[in-house]
Amino acid sequence: VQPEKCVVAVDGPSGSGKSTVSRRLAAAIDGVYLDTGAMYRAVTWAVLQAGADLSDPEAIAKIALETELSIGTDPSAPHFAANGVPVDGPIRGPEVTAAVSAVAAVPAVRRQLVALQRAIIAGQPRIVVEGRDIASVVAPDADLKVYLTASAAARAARRSAEDATDVAATEASLVRRDKLDSSRAADPLRQASDALEVDTTGLGIDEVVAYLLKLLDSRVNK
Ligand code: DC
Repeated sequence: VQPEKCVVAVDGPSGSGKSTVSRRLAAAIDGVYLDTGAMYRAVTWAVLQAGADLSDPEAIAKIALETELSIGTDPSAPHFAANGVPVDGPIRGPEVTAAVSAVAAVPAVRRQLVALQRAIIAGQPRIVVEGRDIASVVAPDADLKVYLTASAAARAARRSAEDATDVAATEASLVRRDKLDSSRAADPLRQASDALEVDTTGLGIDEVVAYLLKLLDSRVNK
């Protein structure tokens, strides 16, 4: 498939395979990849650097506005920087992971990042966007909307294989974050009514990507 223009929205909880699937899909359509979770993580990194109080939404929003983000969209090397500092490593670290749900729950932060995401999408012919609210808020007109799921155990097993952490602790942290992300007032994690649910529990990456490419082909190259 190589549609002239297309937007693919990939939502789902952490560890559902979103990042790997989205990057592979973007490369397959010769498009770019936008990791919106990394945007929330980069802002969280800046908030932590500034020593802001995580229970103070106004302080968080102010730092978010002052943070200059550099957002990489190359699916083979999506590098991020915040205020000129490369943050690919730190934004995956435990401090940012523990704090990101609080930052992502601040409405002003979401408004700012959603506007940025829409501007990036508008400037690209082919883009795969992954996150929590892409189909529901950021790009409701996307050509293909996928909601990836997997059992909590499968998601924790994948994550701990990636970062060599304890599976049980990883599962507890995933479940905690899902709960925070789903229960917040502003744009909670939820499946858009017209998004297609794909349970990746027993599936390999290749299978999921091939399936999505076929779907995209039938939607875009009609
Ligand atoms: O996908 P991830 O684990 O990198 O996302 C990090 C956090 O950011 C996650 O806890 C939820 C939040 N997030 C969000 O609220 N909206 C998005 N579009 C993407 C991520």
